[in-house]
Amino acid sequence: MRTFIVVGHKATTTPDFSLEDIPGTSGRLDILCRCINAAFVISHGIRHDVRILLVLCGGEPHKTVCLRGEDLRHLNPDERTTAALLKKALAIVAWPEWSMSTSGIFVRTGGLGEVLSDLKAKGIKPAYLREDGMDVHEADCNLSGDAVFILGDHLGMTPEEETQILQAGAEVISIGPACLHADHCIVLVNWMLDTGMLGDQTIIRPIS
Ligand SMILES: C[S@@+](CC[C@H](N)C(=O)[O-])C[C@H]1O[C@@H](n2cnc3c(N)ncnc32)[C@H](O)[C@@H]1O
Repeated sequence: MRTFIVVGHKATTTPDFSLEDIPGTSGRLDILCRCINAAFVISHGIRHDVRILLVLCGGEPHKTVCLRGEDLRHLNPDERTTAALLKKALAIVAWPEWSMSTSGIFVRTGGLGEVLSDLKAKGIKPAYLREDGMDVHEADCNLSGDAVFILGDHLGMTPEEETQILQAGAEVISIGPACLHADHCIVLVNWMLDTGMLGDQTIIRPIS
């Protein structure tokens, strides 16, 4: 199971945004919708071996939404449908424990700190993606099929978040010198993992 964690610094924690204007009313949930698409959607199916955690910091308390490929349903390639799934998830009452919204989509209160604590409890050291990091091919950390990757949104990461991430034992990894969109980074990481460039080759098992 490969995991992507994306921090949405302005992303709303409530469902009161417009599907007619997602970028303008949701704190850029459109960026996170594209990350979901990049993480899961392949031609005629979705990836089962992927999980994405979206850290929503645009309200108090922060919330985290988790989408899990093994039981994810109703995901289509378009942003509007994806945003509608997030709207549903944000409409349910969130607690510090995970609650299921629709199949494969879970929500809880808590932000990056809680996500990093979970990783620490499982002994997992994440890879923090940043263009000035160590070349992905020379990285020391385990980037096999079970790796965890942390990415920023259009605002990158705050110094405080970077400190938290580094204290969690993350290695800073670059997939090239250009600053890319987060969803494009996810596509590239998926491709590198698919082709075995980052460790064990994993098999894509699409559903139709
Ligand atoms: C649009 S970029 C962030 C731009 C933001 N203005 C900044 O300066 O950090 C979104 C995220 O993609 C990841 N990223 C972008 N380019 C990358 C690269 N070449 N290698 C690794 N990660 C990259 C980083 O996690 C970054 O926070």
